[in-house]
Amino acid sequence: MSTRKITYQHTIEYEVINTSGLFHPQNWALLSVGKIEDARRFVVVDANVDKHHGAAIRAYFDFHNMDARIVTFPGGEENKTLDQYLALAHELDLFPIHRRDEPIIAIGGGVLTDLVGFVAASHRRGVPYIKAPTTLMGYVDASIGIKTGFNFNGNKNRLGAFHAPQTVLLDKTLLRTLPRRHILNGVCEIIKLAVVCDAELFDMLELHGARCVVSHFQNGESDAILDRAISGMINELEPNLFEVELARKVDFGHTFSYGLETRHETNLLHGEAVLLDILLSTLIAHGRGLLTDHETERIFRLTSELGFALNASILDPSLLWSSLTERTYHRNGLQRVPMPRGIGGCVFINDIHEAEIESAVKILEDWMTKEYEIL
Ligand SMILES: NC(=O)c1ccc[n+]([C@@H]2O[C@H](COP(=O)([O-])OP(=O)(O)OC[C@H]3O[C@@H](n4cnc5c(N)ncnc54)[C@H](O)[C@@H]3O)[C@@H](O)[C@H]2O)c1
Repeated sequence: MSTRKITYQHTIEYEVINTSGLFHPQNWALLSVGKIEDARRFVVVDANVDKHHGAAIRAYFDFHNMDARIVTFPGGEENKTLDQYLALAHELDLFPIHRRDEPIIAIGGGVLTDLVGFVAASHRRGVPYIKAPTTLMGYVDASIGIKTGFNFNGNKNRLGAFHAPQTVLLDKTLLRTLPRRHILNGVCEIIKLAVVCDAELFDMLELHGARCVVSHFQNGESDAILDRAISGMINELEPNLFEVELARKVDFGHTFSYGLETRHETNLLHGEAVLLDILLSTLIAHGRGLLTDHETERIFRLTSELGFALNASILDPSLLWSSLTERTYHRNGLQRVPMPRGIGGCVFINDIHEAEIESAVKILEDWMTKEYEIL
């Protein structure tokens, strides 16, 4: 018997680009990769984005004489499904694109970019694609990394692949039309990053966060917060794009949230579930002496000042425990739960027990029913 070892290294490179006026004909960002002459583009646009920008998007491709097939897609977690994946795969098959130089263009929130990313990952075993996030969740989180996929068999993101985009195009003016609840939804991911990675970002949220929410991140201070959140995210993802290391700071808030958002898919947004998890984890960290009283109060005060409407009735300790168990499988047998150590610091713990969750739930329920009185 002989053995032949096969080794192949592949470099991942893509750019995250800030732009504005994305659909203005003179803005070349959407066409900055791929061929231009005699070319085609398969473009998937979130249906709500299409209402506001559909005419401009169509005019953009007409102006550039681009043969574009524009497909609208209904956002929302309930559409992150196998059926929607198959529908898009069929549409794409009816509009043959070159395998290398006619990237698919995904314009929408995290649901759309995750799903279209998987269409791109699986079509002919991988074709290029571009992401243009239109929600804050997409802007600061979902569009930045290389994870694609959809929900399957009652499990979030159960089928998917790592597939890097060619480019990510960030135009924050697209957030103007986003409903306030979805602005807050994205803010949860910024809070996550601030609490475990970046004390200065946390200070900035305390000072300017509420005004950023009111202005839909169009005010002067919002640029610094968005830039810091995105570069913090890139710093965390870049050395571990394929999640070889399973202890990830960016998984803060993503342990108990998994069960919550699976059970309450229709009325709980991803960020809202993440925020509940952040608060529970904060209380567990406080119980373990990882956060002082003052640091714990700051996290809770920020939550109330930003104006979240949270629902205490869904905090079922047995669901939270089974969510932790499920995540332990995902993290290859260890809990690896990221926990804040001081604001801006992080440790991973592997020995959370049920009683700790129960006691954190009681405190959190109490806080919510007393209308966010300072702890
Ligand atoms: N791939 C990753 O690394 C990653 C990271 C974080 C979150 N996610 C995924 O992201 C998803 C959530 O993303 P989301 O919160 O963007 O949800 P979403 O894509 O469903 O968008 C939310 C809502 O906003 C609407 N919308 C989008 N852009 C709009 C705009 N500019 N104006 C008005 N309405 C607009 C959509 O139609 C939808 O109703 C989850 O499925 C989550 O798993 C993925």
